[in-house]
Amino acid sequence: MTYPSGRRALVCADLEVAAGEFLVLLGPSGAGKSTLLRSLNGLVSLTEGTLESHGVGVVRGAAALRALRKRTGMVFQQHQLIGRLSALTNVLTGRLGYHSGLRTLLPFSRADKMIALHALDRVGLLDCALHRVDQLSGGEQQRVGVARALAQDPQTLLADEPVASLDPATAAHVLTLIHDVCKADGIAAVVSLHQVSLAGRFADRIVGLANGTVVFEGAPGALDASAVARIYGAAAVLAAPDHATPHNASPDAAYVTA
Ligand SMILES: Nc1ncnc2c1ncn2[C@@H]1O[C@H](COP(=O)(O)OP(=O)(O)O)[C@@H](O)[C@H]1O
Ligand SMILES: [Mg+2]
Repeated sequence: MTYPSGRRALVCADLEVAAGEFLVLLGPSGAGKSTLLRSLNGLVSLTEGTLESHGVGVVRGAAALRALRKRTGMVFQQHQLIGRLSALTNVLTGRLGYHSGLRTLLPFSRADKMIALHALDRVGLLDCALHRVDQLSGGEQQRVGVARALAQDPQTLLADEPVASLDPATAAHVLTLIHDVCKADGIAAVVSLHQVSLAGRFADRIVGLANGTVVFEGAPGALDASAVARIYGAAAVLAAPDHATPHNASPDAAYVTA
């Protein structure tokens, strides 16, 4: 994928994600994680190669893109919720892809409200359904973001550094939630993280990116010091010799990028 500026942001051979798989993207700032995630729902178009999705086929043209996005949930670092609206209304926006044209101007149906309430219940926030989102904590807001994605009945969930703004305990909680709902529903998840330890805890498979290139692909157990060095540079490993593997209960400071 090359940006109009001429910046070649991602060189990727084949990458396949299975239903129910939890794939983690690791890499320093500028590695291409966001570009890869954006390309998976057509927010940026690939300059070479194709994107293919189960049930949609090769994504080409507006109708295929709409079909893809309808069932692709997104969770963002800054959650992208509308603060002055209730949690329920925010989650209901996850249903918009299911309606077209003028229908989207009408009040949400009872069926949509039931789906949204169920999604809020799954993230433990049913009691907060009518609270304004800007009055919730950071972790709760991100859980509303997860509920909004779930309301789409997603086939795929893309999460771009979903826990980067949260404290470690809340980050682990939110990531557990994302992981567990994806597993329960057989959702293919692609999640970018910058903590090696979290990746090791949740990933079925890790793809490590550096300078827009895949420099590691494998199970968390295969992510040894040399793989970490390929992803983050040798300095990261030298800075934290005891923390080079994701299985260590270690601080993530050495791997935290801006
Ligand atoms: N909209 C854009 N236009 C031009 N270059 C971009 C754009 N977005 C990202 N890039 C460049 O593409 C590369 C990958 O960026 P990005 O995918 O955001 O990495 P990451 O999410 O891993 O930090 C970087 O060199 C970045 O500067
Ligand atoms: Mg990014």
